[in-house]
Amino acid sequence: MTVNVKKITITIDGPAGVGKGTLARRLAAHYGWAYLDTGALYRATARRCLAEGVAPENAAAIAAQLQPEDLTHPDLRQEAVGALASQVAAVPAVRQALFDYQRRFVTLPPGGVAGAVLDGRDTGTVICPEAPVKFFLTAAAEIRAERRLKELQERGEPAIYDTILREIQERDLRDQRRAVAPLVPATDAVILDTSRKTIQDVFDEAVRWINQRCPVTDFPKLH
Ligand code: DC
Repeated sequence: MTVNVKKITITIDGPAGVGKGTLARRLAAHYGWAYLDTGALYRATARRCLAEGVAPENAAAIAAQLQPEDLTHPDLRQEAVGALASQVAAVPAVRQALFDYQRRFVTLPPGGVAGAVLDGRDTGTVICPEAPVKFFLTAAAEIRAERRLKELQERGEPAIYDTILREIQERDLRDQRRAVAPLVPATDAVILDTSRKTIQDVFDEAVRWINQRCPVTDFPKLH
């Protein structure tokens, strides 16, 4: 007999380079939940648009047919893919196609685990407004640009600080100003400014919120 147990969802939204992915992965590992990088859905759609010469306005068909291998393609983190992702993300039909994918993930997290952690731009406002804990991460654009520069340098990739900062600022504006699902905190989101905090500080604070808001008996803790 299948027992339909309500799954716990934690959402983490915020601009590019703020540390959402790092926090989401650590929380998912800590609680034994599934993790979904929703930005990868938009990046995968954009990468296929580039590869197949499809304009962003016509990307919905690609978004509806994404395959698991699209989500792990090695080119997803390229700057050109990120820039186009923010354009395909402004197309309502693309967002609708990816909404269903994300709702399935929340309702039935892979591996039958008890919960899911989603990170993105609208996971707390649009995808999962019923989530018991929603985080919205912020950090100054200059600090996010420095972090990105360091990351690229560590990977041996050429990078210029001013270019990275300009791209981050342009992407922020596009994500905040788009008509559909703009980047805004949910009214009940916990706002965490990561500018002067270590990854460990942000993680500890997030765990305190989750443990406070979700009764301990609701889920098994791994650590
Ligand atoms: O987080 P990221 O840089 O991988 O996201 C790539 C783009 O996708 C970003 O510019 C905005 C968009 N996006 C979105 O609109 N909604 C989401 N839930 C996740 C990402």
